[in-house]
This record gives sequence, C-alpha cells and structure tokens, in this order.
Amino acid sequence: MRGMDIDTLQRRLRATLPMARLDCRPLPGCPEISLALINDDFPLGPLPPDVMRAVIARPAYWSLCWGSGLALARHLLDRPELVRGRRVVDLGAGSGVVAIAAAMAGAARVIACDSDPDALAATAANAALNRVAVTLADDLADVPTDNDLMLMADVLYDRENLPLLAAACRHADAVLVADSRIAELPDPAYRQVGTIATLTYPNLGEFDEFGTVRLFYRDTTAEGSTSSTVMSSR
Ligand SMILES: C[S@@+](CC[C@H](N)C(=O)[O-])C[C@H]1O[C@@H](n2cnc3c(N)ncnc32)[C@H](O)[C@@H]1O
Repeated sequence: MRGMDIDTLQRRLRATLPMARLDCRPLPGCPEISLALINDDFPLGPLPPDVMRAVIARPAYWSLCWGSGLALARHLLDRPELVRGRRVVDLGAGSGVVAIAAAMAGAARVIACDSDPDALAATAANAALNRVAVTLADDLADVPTDNDLMLMADVLYDRENLPLLAAACRHADAVLVADSRIAELPDPAYRQVGTIATLTYPNLGEFDEFGTVRLFYRDTTAEGSTSSTVMSSR
C-alpha cells in the first residue's frame, strides 16, 4: 500500500471517528491476508453523541473485517476449486476481504462491488497491500452479467438488501451468501449448506448469536442439484 492510500483512508475514517487510526495487519485465522483496519484498542464504550451521530450517518463498515467476510475468506482459501479460473463478484465488499481471498485462490476475474465509495477505496488499498488485482464497481447494475459466482458476506444486516438475493442471480450463475445476521433467507431457492464459527475483527464484543455464520447457496444453472462442492474440503 502506498503511503498516500493509507493517509487518504485514515482521513476518511477520522471524518467519522476522530480518535480512530488504521493499522495494517494479518487477519486472525486468515494470516495470508493483511488489511488496513481500525485499531484493536479502539474504545468499545459509549461514544460521544456527536461521534455517534456521525457513525450512524456514515458507518465505516470497511474499517472492520466482519465475521462473515473472515469466515468466507478462510473458506475460499481452503477450497480454491470454488473460485479457481472463475469470474467472481464480491457484493458488499467493505474492506475487500472476500474479493482478495477469491483473487488469491485463483479466480480469473474479481469484481468488488460496494455502494460506499470509502469501501471501494479501502478495497483498492487492501488489494494493493495483498498484491492482487480487483476491479471496482459502485453499483450492481454496472456489474457484467457473465459471472460464475457472486459472493455476499454480511450484507443482509439491512433487510432492505434482501432484494439483492434475486438481483445477484441476474449477474452470476451461482450465489454463495455468508451471513451472521439472518438465520433464514426468505427465498427458498437458497439452501443452507453450512455454518462456520467466527468473530468480527477487531472484536466488537457482539452478542454470541452473531458468532455463527450461515452459508446459503443457489446455483441457477442446476437448481435442485446437491451443493456438496460448496462445502467439500480439498
Ligand atoms: C457489514 S459490511 C460487510 C463487508 C464485508 N463483506 C465483510 O464481510 O467484511 C456490508 C457492506 O455492504 C455494503 N452494502 C450495503 N448495501 C449495499 C448494496 N445495496 N450494494 C452494494 N453494497 C452494499 C456496505 O457499504 C458495506 O460495505
């Protein structure tokens, strides 16, 4: 990562959280990937009201590696056959952790899509830090429709994002959702194919229930077939 990139990101983070800093470091349980994330010792206590208002207005989701992103990144690195040689999209990329894992695992093309321009800046910086190539998109509508696999990690925290489950299928043959916030998807075409224990990093001290990531899979080209390849180990 060039100095200017981290400085720019740091300024963007401090616009919301003036006392925060970005530290580049390897991920716990996924040391192949390093990310620029909010400092580990960032105070978890109540924030001053004006800071709280800024966080709510413009949450810097990209400054954390969410539990589902961490779990899905590990999953892909352990099972590179899921993405090797394939065109992959990371929808709701945040820090870019899943996109970076897909690129490291040998995907032929990786697009990171996020509606937050700061998340795209973070993804670009983190991709450079990990020396992988990732293309950026700020709107799913601008993403080509010829993808093999769409990945979504912790994007359904906002129920208004549920329509993305259908939209994702218009841009990729198959969709793999990792989510710690929703126990069941409203679309029965998505089948739960596994669970993974994980935590957001840095640890937010969240409720235990958010420590379980559920994987849901839909393959529009083979509806009804088994999904063993999604969970199988090498
Ligand atoms: C909780 S973060 C998860 C980030 C990352 N996937 C991870 O696991 O660390 C959710 C991300 O989804 C993005 N997002 C939310 N709604 C979106 C939408 N409709 N299109 C694209 N990105 C969206 C947010 O900006 C945010 O960066």
